[in-house]
Amino acid sequence: MSPSNSAAKGPVALITGASRGIGFELAKVSAGNGHDVVLVARKLDALEAAAGMIEGKFGVRAIAIVADLSDPDAPQQLHDSVVAQQLEIDVLINNAGFGLGGEFLETDLEREVEMIQVNVTAVTQLTKLFAAGMVKRRRGRIMNLASTAAFQPGPLMAVYYATKAYVLSFSEAIAEELRATGVTVTALCPGATATDFAETAQISNTRLFQKLGVASADRIAQYGYKAMMRGEREALPGWRDKLMIQSERLTPRRLVTKISRMVQENR
Ligand SMILES: NC(=O)c1ccc[n+]([C@@H]2O[C@H](COP(=O)([O-])OP(=O)(O)OC[C@H]3O[C@@H](n4cnc5c(N)ncnc54)[C@H](OP(=O)(O)O)[C@@H]3O)[C@@H](O)[C@H]2O)c1
Repeated sequence: MSPSNSAAKGPVALITGASRGIGFELAKVSAGNGHDVVLVARKLDALEAAAGMIEGKFGVRAIAIVADLSDPDAPQQLHDSVVAQQLEIDVLINNAGFGLGGEFLETDLEREVEMIQVNVTAVTQLTKLFAAGMVKRRRGRIMNLASTAAFQPGPLMAVYYATKAYVLSFSEAIAEELRATGVTVTALCPGATATDFAETAQISNTRLFQKLGVASADRIAQYGYKAMMRGEREALPGWRDKLMIQSERLTPRRLVTKISRMVQENR
């Protein structure tokens, strides 16, 4: 873990997975709204390029911290690094995450355990570590990246869908616990979005990514940032997704699961 810049001065947003995709867009929206930003991901060169672009365009401080959140010790080390730099985190965005497509009996278990560490355990660890200071200061915003995948089981991507169900449930529960503390918690639930995600998960050829329309990461970030600052608990950017999730509530779960499988199949 290696900090690349000195301490920030303004309100600070820490964004995991900020080197590209939705996280980078969230970092830009945060910077555009006057936040200094702490950018976290595994690759220092990509982080430094992102930080340089943000500092040049928005005139805020951008601090790059390398962390591999699949390492169970990384959240504590990240928190220690932030404290050592005397940074107070006003906004925590747990965005880093990845998926993996395929029949559960054929997918790589090691990769799935890593996914649970990044998508679930690190989100839990970082939220606990950073929320404590926010509650003490009686102000803070936390946003966790869930997904439309959070609302139903996902055959052919079973572990990923389950990690996002956790993120949504966890976020809503602690949002209620933290009500009246000045700290809000938002679960951002995008549908398919144009980033490296689909390629990493080996699901680029699915109906979901080929047939159903893909949002831009910039639009998702703008929507999520506004919802987070308003303190909304659940942020669902797509009107079609909103309709789908409402109708799922009235549909037998077995049928919902079957439809979910069709969406995850190759076109
Ligand atoms: N794109 C979609 O369709 C979609 C839809 C719904 C929800 N989401 C969620 O949105 C979030 C962001 O996804 P994205 O689409 O922006 O994906 P992406 O383009 O693949 O970006 C992932 C980011 O996370 C970082 N990352 C990956 N593994 C990491 C690790 N072990 N430790 C630290 N950082 C790590 C990556 O940087 P390094 O590789 O340098 O570490 C990168 O900055 C994820 O939680 C994803 O589940 C995505």
